[in-house]
Amino acid sequence: MIVRFANDVKIITNGNDGIIERSNRAKLILPGVGAQLQTLAVLLQTPRSSVWLSETLSRTHPGSTGAELVNKLLDEEVLIPWTLSSRLVDLHKETIDVKDYPTISPGYETARLLREYSGKATQKLPPPQLANVNLEQVLLKRRSVRQFSGQAVTKVNLSTILAMGAGLGGNKFDEPLAALVLGGPVAKRTYPSGGGLYPIELLVYPLQVETINSGFYYYQVLSHRMVSVSPSLPKDVLVELLNEHPIQEASILLLLFIDFARLSLGKYGEKSYRLALIEAGHIAQNVLLIASGLGLKSLPICGFNDEQLSHAAGLNFPYEVIIYVLAIGGAT
Ligand SMILES: Cc1cc2nc3c(=O)[nH]c(=O)nc-3n(C[C@H](O)[C@H](O)[C@H](O)COP(=O)(O)O)c2cc1C
Repeated sequence: MIVRFANDVKIITNGNDGIIERSNRAKLILPGVGAQLQTLAVLLQTPRSSVWLSETLSRTHPGSTGAELVNKLLDEEVLIPWTLSSRLVDLHKETIDVKDYPTISPGYETARLLREYSGKATQKLPPPQLANVNLEQVLLKRRSVRQFSGQAVTKVNLSTILAMGAGLGGNKFDEPLAALVLGGPVAKRTYPSGGGLYPIELLVYPLQVETINSGFYYYQVLSHRMVSVSPSLPKDVLVELLNEHPIQEASILLLLFIDFARLSLGKYGEKSYRLALIEAGHIAQNVLLIASGLGLKSLPICGFNDEQLSHAAGLNFPYEVIIYVLAIGGAT
């Protein structure tokens, strides 16, 4: 068991004795173990296993029984279990053991590419335009904000954020379009993807973009356009789904999602989860920096109602899940 000190524990030594002080609790006096307690305070600068602590205390303080002190402190709730670390270890282990699943099915991924051309209500986007920007300034000016100006952004700005941040870039017609993987999604994007499988997909919710109505749109990377997938929500409902984050005056929300039913994820098995999250980080950073380069502000958001937001966006939760929301808008 991994343990740590409870939050309000204060260790004092008086001669050979150890004293534990805690708010709202009586002092705990532990005769003869002052030195061991001091060692424990050093060892527990980070949570450790109780067995390791007991052994280390017995070794560094010959004649004492480390286990006795550790158990006493556990009984008194001076030490408390820290279960999150082992749960995270288990979760991470799942992404290490790459198991054998049927790998990418070219037919399936081709169907996904064809799906990109379907859809009734589409929004064709103009070519992206990013004037010369200074990378240092762009990096320094990126800052999460919790207040936006409410100003509408242009369709060109939205196009630039999507194409440059999460798409094929501005020169897509200069290079032949190609998948890295037989039958896989189109590659040569502005962000890297483990194995070129591009598991992260994008929904766009324009809040205030000139000539585009609010609602959830799927961003079709290949054709650089948006397809309407789910109707707009009253703003107060949207804000509630986003745990009251102050996005009322933002101009665009980008919602990054994963489709767990995707067969191409089989190539890396459970590790594909790690790869997908890393990819989402790459896309997000691109988007935030492009926004910064356009003079806009941003807020990355993970605090939202996972299930309800995914449902509102027309996704098949829990197989299709939104993992990250990026709010973009004018500076106040
Ligand atoms: C993965 C991730 C999730 C975040 N989720 C939220 C969020 O739910 N709400 C929020 O207000 N800020 C959120 N943030 C923004 C952080 O609070 C912010 O990046 C941090 O305070 C550093 O400030 P800076 O971005 O201005 O440099 C998130 C940031 C990251 C990277």
